[in-house]
Amino acid sequence: MQAHRKIIIAIDGFSSSGKSTMARRLASAIGYRYIDSGAMYRAVTLYALDNGMVDDDGKLHESEIIESLPCIKVDFEVQPDGTQHTVLNGIDVEKEIRRLRVSNVVSPVAAIPEVRHALVAMQKALGKERGIVMDGRDIGTVVFSDAELKVFVDASAETRAQRRFKELLEKGSAVSYEDVLANVVHRDHIDSTREESPLRKADDAISIDNSNMTIDEQDAWLMEQFNKVVKA
Ligand code: CDP
Repeated sequence: MQAHRKIIIAIDGFSSSGKSTMARRLASAIGYRYIDSGAMYRAVTLYALDNGMVDDDGKLHESEIIESLPCIKVDFEVQPDGTQHTVLNGIDVEKEIRRLRVSNVVSPVAAIPEVRHALVAMQKALGKERGIVMDGRDIGTVVFSDAELKVFVDASAETRAQRRFKELLEKGSAVSYEDVLANVVHRDHIDSTREESPLRKADDAISIDNSNMTIDEQDAWLMEQFNKVVKA
C-alpha cells in the first residue's frame, strides 16, 4: 500500500463540543500526533492562579502574566495507556487544569494577545513535521491556516454543558449543572468576541453539529473527511 502524504487536521469549535474526543480518536486511528491547544491555555491559567496573578474576583494581573511567559514551559507526556498528560514546568497538571477553577478564568487569560502569540508560536513549531491533529479555537484560522482538513464542531449549549457536567462528575468534581452551563455560555461569548483571533469558522472549514451523534458516528464522519482529503 502506498503511504499517504502527512497532512494537518485543524478542529475548532465551541467549548465542550467534543472536539478533543474527535481529534484524539482520529489521531490514534491514523497514527498522527494529537495536540490539545486548549490544555496549553489552561496550563498558563493554572500558573497565573497558583502564582497570585488572579484576584478572588477574577481580575487578572495582566502585566505579571505577560512577564512570566518566558518561565512557563508546557509539554505533553504520553502515558502507558496512550493518553497524553499536560506537564507544566515539569509537573503533571492534567487533572488540575480541567477543574472549574481554571475554566472560570481561562478565556480572559487566552484573550491576552501576548499569551496568544507565545502559544501560537509553540503550536506552529509542533506542527512543522505535519502528521498532526490539533484542536482549539483558532487552529484553522490562525495557527494552521494552511491545514489540509479543517473541521468546525458545534452542538447546542445545553448538550455541551450536559456532557461536560457528566465528565466532571465522573472525575469526582462537586459541581452543579447550572455552574457548568454558565461557564460554557460565558466562555463562548468571550472566545467569539475577543479582539485577537476570535473563535470563528474558517471559510474553508467543514461544519458538523454533533448534538445528536454518537461517538462512533462522529468518528466515522471524520474518518470519511480525512480519507477524502488524503485520497484526493
Ligand atoms: O473546555 P473545552 O475543552 O472546550 O476548552 P479547551 O479546548 O480546553 O480550551 C479552554 C479555553 O482556552 C477556551 O475557552 C479558550 O478561551 C481558550 N483557547 C483559545 O483561546 N484558543 C485555542 N486554540 C484553544 C483554547
